[in-house]
Amino acid sequence: MAMDRRPDNMIRITTPELANAFIDEQVKLIREQVGDKKVLLALSGGVDSSVVAALLIKAIGQNLVCVHVNHGLLRKGEPEQVIEVFKNQMNANLIYVDATDRFLDKLAGVDDPETKRMIIGGEFIEVFAEEARKLDGIEFLAQGTIWPDILESENGIKAHHNAGGLPEDMKFELVEPVRILFKDEVRVVGDALGLPHGMVYRQPFPGPGLGVRCPGAITRDRLEAVRESDAILREEFDKNGLADKVWQYFTVVPDFRSTGIKDEKRAFEWCCIVRAVNTTDVMTATVAEIPYELMCHITDRITHEVPGINRVLYDFTPKPTGTVEFE
Ligand code: XMP
Repeated sequence: MAMDRRPDNMIRITTPELANAFIDEQVKLIREQVGDKKVLLALSGGVDSSVVAALLIKAIGQNLVCVHVNHGLLRKGEPEQVIEVFKNQMNANLIYVDATDRFLDKLAGVDDPETKRMIIGGEFIEVFAEEARKLDGIEFLAQGTIWPDILESENGIKAHHNAGGLPEDMKFELVEPVRILFKDEVRVVGDALGLPHGMVYRQPFPGPGLGVRCPGAITRDRLEAVRESDAILREEFDKNGLADKVWQYFTVVPDFRSTGIKDEKRAFEWCCIVRAVNTTDVMTATVAEIPYELMCHITDRITHEVPGINRVLYDFTPKPTGTVEFE
């Protein structure tokens, strides 16, 4: 039977040996639980769902059906990486759904942050359920629930967001192979399963994606400016050794224009805000110190390489009074 609770005496998984022992045990448990039946997984490309996918591929191969929904609010290169790693390298049974237009059409003109979140979350479930209905013989749903999710839902801190959400008529038995692990252990297991470092150690990324970094009503051009500036920031943090030191870093492009000069002509364009924070519990956060020279270089790249941006600003606000995200 699958393991529901983390045993009190369980040793923290910190080494490849411990990770491999966990993997062997889970592969056995997954096979016992699902037999030759099919399992469905919403694969976002985040750490938890990626590790669950890799574990299930090892255990049941093609009987795992992964659905990757691209809501159009992912970071540059993310859908491509999911396809490359899971379909091309691991030979996963992967369904890729590009639902960009569907999401952006629904979000057009919507400027309230919580309404944006609800539309993105609701639409995601709808797209996923539609894909699930097209498939035959699925009896199980795999989820990247981890041990802190269980503890937090038991303590009433937050609802266990992974469970549920699907329409009433869609009932699956759950497969949750990392539910007894802490986040750091999921990463060690991901490493042992051969997932790329960038995937296993990637910074947190919110479910509503770049949608909350494009404050106000999302437009395609401003969303593109967020995506391109974020890609430059990530590239520079990687190159300069900050990616593993700063907890979360990203760009925001508000719907606000200012006067500037480009190619000796007046340029009335958006500004791009860089945010980089450190935290241990996410309840509070401090502003990361970025070397001055590097900020100048990032500013130069973003203002010259990203269409529509003529200024770069750095957000010096800790949490509180700011939250990490702008919306
Ligand atoms: P805030 O902005 O609340 O962010 O200080 C704290 C952490 O939570 C992430 N975040 C979200 N994650 N859905 C998510 O899955 C959301 O709606 C959401 N809002 C914020 C944020 O990126 C940060 O890591």
